Amino acid sequence: MIEIHNIHKSFGDKKVLDGISGVFETGKTNLLLGASGTGKSVLLKCIVGLIKPDIGSVTFDGTYFTNNKLDIRQEIRRKIGMLFQSSALFDSMSVEQNVEFPLKMLSDMPKDERMDRVNFCLQRVGLENSNKKMPSELSGGMKKRVGIARAIAPNCTYLFCDEPNSGLDPLTAIKIDELIAEITAEYGITTIVVTHDMNSVIEIGEKIMFLYEGKKIWEGTRDDILDTDVRELNDFIFANRLMRDAKKIEEEEEEAEQNSQNKE
Ligand SMILES: Nc1ncnc2c1ncn2[C@@H]1O[C@H](COP(=O)(O)OP(=O)(O)O)[C@@H](O)[C@H]1O
Ligand SMILES: [Mg+2]
Repeated sequence: MIEIHNIHKSFGDKKVLDGISGVFETGKTNLLLGASGTGKSVLLKCIVGLIKPDIGSVTFDGTYFTNNKLDIRQEIRRKIGMLFQSSALFDSMSVEQNVEFPLKMLSDMPKDERMDRVNFCLQRVGLENSNKKMPSELSGGMKKRVGIARAIAPNCTYLFCDEPNSGLDPLTAIKIDELIAEITAEYGITTIVVTHDMNSVIEIGEKIMFLYEGKKIWEGTRDDILDTDVRELNDFIFANRLMRDAKKIEEEEEEAEQNSQNKE
């Protein structure tokens, strides 16, 4: 479980995060949802320690991170896997070398164990026959899969993904979302996914925080998001015509159910 408490961050006189608190649960895919420019990536960077918040703190399973000693922060960092927006693979390394890289950096595992782990992770993301391929030979979806395999290779406890399905076609995007959610549940990882995609919400949104202008203004699950009366969240969701249609169908179904109950 990751807890954030009263996180504030400004750049110059621009306030980006305005006192955000919340809990990201273990074994769940926790979504940070919001329009572009609302501070989702900055919040994620504050949580991993790439940016230091002006005020506020982050704890990982009860251990203070933000202002703690360097060795304690490093210990926590070792447990974090990150999937960057661009996948950020090393272009000059093969798929296998990319996934092996964090094991070389972070562990003293012997070569044969490293290869076992690499093969296990590649298999887990559905890329068992791609060890020797170079990133330039991969599709967007395959690159994300390699990125996920690399993030989970060191047995991460925490997994952070910033817009993992940006730039993918809708079907591939859903598959990547599902893969992240499955791996999260399977290994009991505390996962935070930054997204502005309502498809992700519907597919994997078991716990969602909605950010608006640097504040958390709503929190819930995909089951209650369509019924929210928070105006800013409604504007965000129903900017999408498909979502408006979905809501209409849901209301019609409810009405039909109500009518049939009234008849009984
Ligand atoms: N290092 C930085 N210096 C100055 N401004 C920044 C920096 N990083 C982000 N910002 C600003 O903070 C705001 C939120 O950015 P970001 O967290 O990237 O939004 P998003 O929700 O799209 O991920 C933006 O207005 C951005 O320009
Ligand atoms: Mg962002």
